[in-house]
Order: sequence, then C-alpha cells, then structure tokens
Amino acid sequence: MKPVLGIETSCDETAAAVVDGKGRILAESVLSQLSEHAPFGGVVPEIAARTHLRYLAEQVRSVMEQSGIGFPDLGGVAATLGPGLIGGLVVGSQFGKGVALANRLPFVGVNHLEAHALTPRLRGVVKNEAAFPYLLLLLSGGHSQCIAVAGIGQHVRLGGTVDDAVGEAFDKVAKLLGLEWPGGPALEKLAAEGNPASHVFPRPMMRRPGCDFSFSGLKTAVAQTVLRAGLNLERGARADIAASFQQAVVDVLCDRAAHAMDLMRGGFPDADMLVVAGGVASNAAVRAGLFVAAASHGFHLVAPPIRLCTDNAVMVAWAGVERLRLGWSDSLEQSARPRWPLDTLEAVLG
Ligand code: KG4
Ligand code: ZN
Repeated sequence: MKPVLGIETSCDETAAAVVDGKGRILAESVLSQLSEHAPFGGVVPEIAARTHLRYLAEQVRSVMEQSGIGFPDLGGVAATLGPGLIGGLVVGSQFGKGVALANRLPFVGVNHLEAHALTPRLRGVVKNEAAFPYLLLLLSGGHSQCIAVAGIGQHVRLGGTVDDAVGEAFDKVAKLLGLEWPGGPALEKLAAEGNPASHVFPRPMMRRPGCDFSFSGLKTAVAQTVLRAGLNLERGARADIAASFQQAVVDVLCDRAAHAMDLMRGGFPDADMLVVAGGVASNAAVRAGLFVAAASHGFHLVAPPIRLCTDNAVMVAWAGVERLRLGWSDSLEQSARPRWPLDTLEAVLG
C-alpha cells in the first residue's frame, strides 16, 4: 500500500499529513487557528472556513515536500468529510477531491470520529498494532462518546453525552474563572494549585446504568459557586474551584468508563484495551484516573501521544490507508456531512 495524503479541516485546525501503508508518519503539519478565534471566545465557523481556504494549499505543499515523495507516488487522498463545521468540511474535502482527480488517485471521505478511533493502530502507538475489538473513550470539545471499535467501519456507540461535551464543560468553566479560551489546558494548570476537596460539586449520572454522560448540571453548579463568591475572586479561591470541578469530571468519567467496560465485556468477552482520545485526553488527572479505572476492570489504558489525541491529519491519512487496504474508496460525488454518527458508517458505505 502506497502512502496516503490526509487532510483535516473539520473544526479549527488546518492540518495535512502523509502516512505510509505501514502506519509510519512521513510528514505532518497542524496549523492551529487559536489566535483567529480567541478574541471571540470560541470557534467562529465563517472565520474557520476562510482560514482553511487561505492556508490549506500551503499545508499540503509543505507536507508533500517534507515527505520527499510526489503526488504520483501516493496511493490515495483522504479528507475529513464529517462530522464538523460545514464550511471547513467543504474546503478540505473539495480540495482533497481536486488533488485526487488531478492525479488519478482514489479518494476516501473520512469520518472524523473513525479517524480518532483508529489512531491506536498507527505504528508505534502501542507495542503491536492495536487489534480489534477495543473500547474508545472519545473526549473532545465537540464529542464525548464511548464506542466499541470492532473493525473498520464497525462501531457501536455504547453511550455519550446528553448535553455538553466534556471539553465544552472545561471551556465554559474556564471562562467563568476568567481564563482564556480554549480553557481546558489553562484550567488544568490552575487546578494544580488548588484543593480538589474544597468544594463538593455534583457528579451527574454517577452510578446510573449505561455509560451516558451529562455535564451541564455540573457546569451550572460551578457557575452558582462563582456567582456567590463574587467577581473578584483571588487566584487561590479560583484554583480550589478549578481543582474541585476537575475532580468531579474525573470521577464521572471513571464511573462511566467502568460501565462502558462492563458493556464492552458483555459484547466482546476478550476485549481488554481502553483507548482514550480527544483534547481532554491530554489532561493528566483524567489520564491518571482512567488508568486506575481500566486496571481495576482488567483493561489496559492506551493514551496516544497528545499531538495524536487532539485534531490532526495523521489520523485522517491513516483512516484512509485502513480503508484503501480493504479496497474501499468513495465517489467524488460524496458531499460533506456536518452530522455523521459513527454507528451509521456501514450503512452509508452501503
Ligand atoms: O479534540 P480536540 O482538540 O478538538 C475537538 O474538539 O475536536 O479537543 C479540544 C478540547 C477543548 O475543549 C479543550 O479545552 C480541551 O479539549 N482540552 C482540555 C485539555 N487540553 C485540551 N481539557 C482539559 N484539560 C486539558 N489539558
Ligand atoms: Zn476531533
């Protein structure tokens, strides 16, 4: 299998990468749009689309040069087709189709969630290529889901958030505490200075059957605490709130993951790997909590390197390799799909 060019533009990262048929990364580049969106306190879809349009061609040119191969040496082009923000998806997928068409290469329209799900199968992420089935806990700014990954295009959604995504909760609480967007990393830093037992925040869904999450009640409880304490909270008091919020999130995630592992064992008795992905997976307290939860269920935790947990094009190129190896490619007529749940993947492919 020849190398595949991957393109990711579903949110606010303009990314390109080249990955070979064995999962080796030949070139990768991620251009974060943080400075474009920071003044607005969140991603502005129109700005995101225009920024992808401005920088994507240069990103692709740069990774092709880094990889040392030419377009005719590629085995295909893979671009994220969904889910995500429509403007960016159109820019990236149409660009990818153009490269494929001009070079007579197959095109793969990648589901962004499947790309996260297949990351542990990249070379070097785990000792031997991660074998199916495994349990994926996807914890990002837009998605919080427990997914049984049984094979390429074979995913079962075991549960997910009923309101906010976990990254969104981190971002909103960070904003309440006066931290800059995106708040997750800043909140983690502040929490390190605080006492996680100083406030007892609610743990929504704890001990409920299944593995759904909910974060909006927790976020509201933090908002009320901040409101009661007044606007000019000193750093120590804000650190205590941050640490207590983070502890509540870790407790909820560990409880939900434990239920997901039980469900996974019900369907796949030999499963023993819990993979965590998405931006929140870079949080050390989350990783440490899940490590213990996994071990106590006879699972081992796989946490890919942080740059592969957050949005990137390496995972998109790799999803392209996995699909092309099976002889699966997509028609250039496939349109971007802003909503595209993972468990409908096979149905879509027909
Ligand atoms: O997966 P990701 O890079 O992008 C998508 O949302 O698809 O995730 C970004 C999210 C943001 O909400 C960010 O605040 C959160 O992940 N995040 C963190 C940390 N690093 C990023 N949340 C908690 N702790 C962190 N260290
Ligand atoms: Zn993502």
